Amino acid sequence: MAHVIGLCMQKGGVGKTTTTLNLGAAMAARGHKVLLIDIDPQANLTQGLGLDPADLEYSIYEVLLNIEAGTAFATQTISAGLDIIPSTLALAGAELELAGKVGRELLLRKALRAARSVYDYILIDPPPSLGLFTLNTMAAADTVLVPLQVHAYALKAMPQLEATIDLVRDLNPPLTIGGIVCTLVDRRTNLSQAVERQIRSTYGDLVFTTTIPMNTKLAEAPAAGESIRMYAPSSAGAVAYEALAEELEARYGSEKEA
Ligand SMILES: Nc1ncnc2c1ncn2[C@@H]1O[C@H](COP(=O)(O)OP(=O)(O)O)[C@@H](O)[C@H]1O
Ligand SMILES: [Mg+2]
Repeated sequence: MAHVIGLCMQKGGVGKTTTTLNLGAAMAARGHKVLLIDIDPQANLTQGLGLDPADLEYSIYEVLLNIEAGTAFATQTISAGLDIIPSTLALAGAELELAGKVGRELLLRKALRAARSVYDYILIDPPPSLGLFTLNTMAAADTVLVPLQVHAYALKAMPQLEATIDLVRDLNPPLTIGGIVCTLVDRRTNLSQAVERQIRSTYGDLVFTTTIPMNTKLAEAPAAGESIRMYAPSSAGAVAYEALAEELEARYGSEKEA
């Protein structure tokens, strides 16, 4: 059965999409079968892997509106072991279309039933808000992986996320924070070092040893439609995501369930 991981943080620009894409690509390169799910109408993950949201036949939008159909019909293969359910702007309308529907927070969870037995890891990338798509992500996930941008107010972002997870436990009782990864780290500054120390002393073993540095190659790669390990394999960003993948594997087990 797949480990289903939601990349959640209510703030934008913290590295959710970058981490979903590059951690997913690194896990696939380690031999895991990985499904990435873009459930953000901005479709950054979709575009970052070289797909044009305007050209899609099917996307996460159709998945949410036809949950009995499963996910395979909307899934595209990017490279060996790496699949994606892409997103498109049409998804923005789904929030309203589904407004009156009972159980609308559980659509993704239900749609993923079959996919769970196909993949080793399913990584879900929601928008930077606490709306319907983030709720669907948290309801579908086994664990939340938190990208925490290392800046002065980093720790202030956590209580709101923890409160949301508590609320979502009504829908998904076993949901926990499975890990925190420090992102956009600039170790040259004293502030960055101090904040990272504070995060580690507060959250202990939940915080991955690996940190993701600020690295311009990571910002450039999406425009090329490539993961960092394709775009700049020896960059600090690529090295960091390889290390994070190794840690994730150690945390969740490396045995592949075919
Ligand atoms: N470690 C990093 N170094 C440099 N740029 C980064 C890094 N992580 C993300 N970025 C860039 O910062 C912006 C926001 O990142 P993104 O992953 O899209 O955040 P989110 O999905 O949380 O909104 C993007 O332009 C991305 O390319
Ligand atoms: Mg994003």
